[in-house]
Amino acid sequence: MKTAVVYYTLGGSTRSFARAEAGARAADLLEAVPAKPYNPFTALMQGCAAARRQRGVPLAQAPDLMGYDRIVLMAPVWGGFPAPPFNSMAALLPAGAQVEVLLVSSSGSSEKSRAKVRALIQGKGCRVVCQRDIHSHQ
Ligand SMILES: Cc1cc2nc3c(=O)[nH]c(=O)nc-3n(C[C@H](O)[C@H](O)[C@H](O)COP(=O)(O)O)c2cc1C
Repeated sequence: MKTAVVYYTLGGSTRSFARAEAGARAADLLEAVPAKPYNPFTALMQGCAAARRQRGVPLAQAPDLMGYDRIVLMAPVWGGFPAPPFNSMAALLPAGAQVEVLLVSSSGSSEKSRAKVRALIQGKGCRVVCQRDIHSHQ
């Protein structure tokens, strides 16, 4: 099974977890970088609202997800939802892929957004095989 771990990070913790996931599965590791990067201020002032609306952002370069059987999407949780670049990554999913959603949060969780995230991915013709949170401060 050909697997890709594709991630977005603002502060670096999702990158560390994504590297570990990719290493454990011998998967390719791909980073989604917004064309206009967030900083902690714009993440708070603009990113949370966009995350809650499940909006994406233009990426500097679109990761090529074609040809992967399983795709692991990883992003930080902002306001209970995956950060907006997660939605940009989800838009690139090839139909038929098995998708895992691993979201990195601090003390909270992504529970309230879980059904909406699953619906978004199913809308791309993909199957969600796993949704779980990783706590960055444990
Ligand atoms: C704008 C913003 C909103 C956040 N909202 C949440 C939240 O709702 N729940 C939570 O547990 N953590 C929240 N966090 C914390 C991050 O999810 C957490 O620190 C994560 O590890 C950051 O990942 P990164 O280092 O890959 O960017 C938020 C962080 C930012 C910057």
